[in-house]
Amino acid sequence: MCESEQRRVRVELGKDSYDIVIGQGLEEEIIAFVRAQGYSRKALVVTDTNVGPRYGTQTVRLLERAGLSPLCVTVSAGEPSKSLSVAEDIYTRVIEHGLDRRSPVFALGGGVVGDLAGFIASTYMRGVPFVQLPTSLLAQVDSSVGGKVAVNHALGKNLIGCFYQPDAVFIDLDLLETLPAREISTGLGEIIKYGIIYDESFFAFLEQQRQDILALAPATARHMIARSCEIKAAVVSQDEREAGLRRILNFGHTMAHAIEQETGYVRYNHGEAVAIGMVGAADISCALGLIEAPVVRRVHDLIAALGLPTQAEGCSVDAMYEEIFHDKKTVNGSVHWVLMDRIGHTQVRSDVPEAVVRQAMARIVGLA
Ligand SMILES: NC(=O)c1ccc[n+]([C@@H]2O[C@H](COP(=O)([O-])OP(=O)(O)OC[C@H]3O[C@@H](n4cnc5c(N)ncnc54)[C@H](O)[C@@H]3O)[C@@H](O)[C@H]2O)c1
Ligand SMILES: [Zn+2]
Repeated sequence: MCESEQRRVRVELGKDSYDIVIGQGLEEEIIAFVRAQGYSRKALVVTDTNVGPRYGTQTVRLLERAGLSPLCVTVSAGEPSKSLSVAEDIYTRVIEHGLDRRSPVFALGGGVVGDLAGFIASTYMRGVPFVQLPTSLLAQVDSSVGGKVAVNHALGKNLIGCFYQPDAVFIDLDLLETLPAREISTGLGEIIKYGIIYDESFFAFLEQQRQDILALAPATARHMIARSCEIKAAVVSQDEREAGLRRILNFGHTMAHAIEQETGYVRYNHGEAVAIGMVGAADISCALGLIEAPVVRRVHDLIAALGLPTQAEGCSVDAMYEEIFHDKKTVNGSVHWVLMDRIGHTQVRSDVPEAVVRQAMARIVGLA
């Protein structure tokens, strides 16, 4: 594959800066990168039961060609693997395998594997090198960028974790071929979000390229993923530890969390809940006079055109309203709503009247 068909996005974080490489079949790039790092020979690959059988062996062989001796650990696919008990089992395996301070950890999987492997990399021996090989669209455009790693606690998601940057992220578009359609749509929810919060021309690109996006045509997918990474990287570079700007990444997420909670994390996957939440946030923005109705329609239509839901079935307004005060982003009872004042730009407001929120929720659940 020729160079021009690759994209490279630099995440600028001072001494923790790193590159995201996006292309098809990145074997040679990965081998050259690993050889240049001076890692210890013993390494860890974390993957899951859907990804491991498909891509585990080829990844281990690739790392062996780069001079490593990897231990491959396969966890059960799904959110419950993001736990301290699974992490503890993996610590045992890596200690037995003899990994040392310069042993790299590779995350080969979706966001669950990325968050878990990153958590292990950040804690084992007070931190060992970490490389992301994201295989789901969500992981490629969202969870592998930004350096948040975590496991869940029985009382809440992502409560045990830290900020820990990888040495590199390699995004191989070919891996998406086996990703189920619904997992594609969860990634698209976050991708649409980037257009809304940061880049109107990217939003317009998504509107125009609908067919190629849904088919994941290589040139379109490459641009869509690279631009999403650039936008997340730009936001994160300005606010690594979520003190301010990074909040805009939560556009659509306040209502999304309420929807996920209300539907037991089963009916809607995360990107679908975000899609519905973005319609709600656009609606609130319109009610406050920040945007006009045709802009809300544009947001709604793109979400629907890319196969995502715009209404939440099985949710009650009262329960959703209650739920937004339990979100961990709600501080001292005040909800910071990320709203839009045009496509490509946001405003954070904590003065949204209850009636406006309830009205938007009523529309989302189909009551208004
Ligand atoms: N760290 C962050 O900043 C951040 C941001 C967003 C989300 N997250 C976390 O990411 C997780 C969600 O990530 P996700 O949506 O990737 O979920 P996931 O890791 O569970 O992957 C989704 C499903 O797709 C499968 N899969 C992945 N790649 C595949 C492939 N190439 N072929 C076939 N099947 C494949 C997985 O096995 C799984 O069943 C959540 O735990 C969330 O908290 C973290
Ligand atoms: Zn999200």
